[in-house]
Amino acid sequence: MTEKILAQVTSIGRYLPDYVLTNKELEKLVETNDEWITSRTGIKERRILKDPDKATSFMAAEAAKEILKNRGIDGSEIDAIIVATVTPDYFFPAVACLVQREIGATNAFGYDISAACSGFVFALSTGAQMIESGRYKKVLVIGADKMSSIIDYTDRTTCILFGDGAAGVLLEPTTDGNGIVDFIQHCDGSGADYLIMHGGGSKNPSSYKTIDDKLHYITQDGKSVFKRATEGMADVSAEIMKKNNLTADDVAWLVPHQANLRIIDATARRMGIGTDKVMINIERYGNTTAATIPLCLYDWKNQLSKGDNLVLAAFGGGFTWGALYMKWGM
Ligand code: UT7
Repeated sequence: MTEKILAQVTSIGRYLPDYVLTNKELEKLVETNDEWITSRTGIKERRILKDPDKATSFMAAEAAKEILKNRGIDGSEIDAIIVATVTPDYFFPAVACLVQREIGATNAFGYDISAACSGFVFALSTGAQMIESGRYKKVLVIGADKMSSIIDYTDRTTCILFGDGAAGVLLEPTTDGNGIVDFIQHCDGSGADYLIMHGGGSKNPSSYKTIDDKLHYITQDGKSVFKRATEGMADVSAEIMKKNNLTADDVAWLVPHQANLRIIDATARRMGIGTDKVMINIERYGNTTAATIPLCLYDWKNQLSKGDNLVLAAFGGGFTWGALYMKWGM
């Protein structure tokens, strides 16, 4: 009997812009205050990519370079690049192609995945299946978003939430049992209008009117999204535990999407795990959309041990949501 091939994380990297946008600075832009933002979201500050010449592919490529460096390999060894993003540099070419060029991944193909805040989980499951098939040996999976490029900094209901950043992992095959074991993924387009950027696509192509109407910014019905996100992330996390016979004690870490501390707490409660086993860095980076989960993995990498059971969970625009169970392999 041949042993099952799993996809294992063998390296990790990130890029965060230097500029720190604090709650105090936001108080000068919109009618808000540190107390409201902290108590309603858990966010204290976020990073912003200020350089107008730099976009999402710059951050994704920087993360990719660190991934290669930490693994001690050259870009030419990469087979595939998957970038999860909703803020690509252009509609096309894909950010993955720009990363491919920047890191000299001369033997790779690549594409982007648009699944908003669930993007990294969906991209990771896609990369894992490429490895499990036996067809590919080294797949880069990156979550990257320059959210500041689609935020209206006069809208206090959204501008306090988001930040810029990128992070990702290298997936390689293993037969030692540690790797991506299972995932559950959903979407529900009936939620499309609750979290959306209306302009710039084929429905509302860019025009003076779309700019005047502010259609190139995120709009969100926060309350509706909050309700669905709280249910969705908690349900799918509990579901993946049940499916894999995991008790709360078996789970070493919950790695949740960082949209709101109250959504994270609700998910942990449903799973029956204490906050000491939940990766939380929302206070420093805010919601970086596709980058939140790999940024958590990066921050906690020195506290992870081989064989640790991790549950990744996300909910986002679409609606999209999902959970992924992996046994840490490094
Ligand atoms: O990652 C993708 C998925 N996205 C999410 O998961 C986000 C989900 N939603 C949320 O996290 C929350 O709904 C928000 C943080 C966006 C908002 O928190 P909330 O507790 O749902 O507040 P709310 O929208 O019910 O607003 C309560 C009050 C309102 O005032 P009134 O109508 O009660 O007078 C808002 O106008 O707070 C007001 N408000 C603010 N006040 C100060 C809204 N934004 C702000 C603000 N500062 N920035």
